[in-house]
Amino acid sequence: MLSSKVEKAINKQIHHEFTTSYAYLALSAWFASQNLPGFAHWMRVQHQEELTHAAKLFEFVVDRGGRVELEALGKPQADYSSPKDAISAALKLEQTTTALINNLYGLGAEEKDYATHSRLQWFVDEQVEEEKNVGEILAMLKMAGDSKGTLLMLDHKLAKRGKS
Ligand code: FEO
Repeated sequence: MLSSKVEKAINKQIHHEFTTSYAYLALSAWFASQNLPGFAHWMRVQHQEELTHAAKLFEFVVDRGGRVELEALGKPQADYSSPKDAISAALKLEQTTTALINNLYGLGAEEKDYATHSRLQWFVDEQVEEEKNVGEILAMLKMAGDSKGTLLMLDHKLAKRGKS
């Protein structure tokens, strides 16, 4: 059984994962509008991945006899000044997610809710990958500078991302 404190915190995290998923969908739309279909594809796959994160937490709450309460989603940012600006925003999102996941992981231990603590271990590990993936794209964009050719090469590479 989940304590109401832990239940509330996981519900908040479910909301954050959906919010992030929505933000990635908006990023996909922006990249598509910039004629960068590879980036747009990468963002669509990431959108799906965030949905799976929300679903894992949703199932966990249900399995523990808790109650999921979904909240409304806000309007995501629609415009960016450049690909670098858009990817920097994605990295910030992931850094926020990492901080929230770490808090939730800590709460599980603090509340002696070891099932929650253990379930959150997967998310702690996943965030290392999430930040790394976005960070690598940002590093490549920084290296590309104003080179349109390198931007298009990167777009081609990102188009190859498989479904998560
Ligand atoms: Fe759900 Fe990108 O972390």
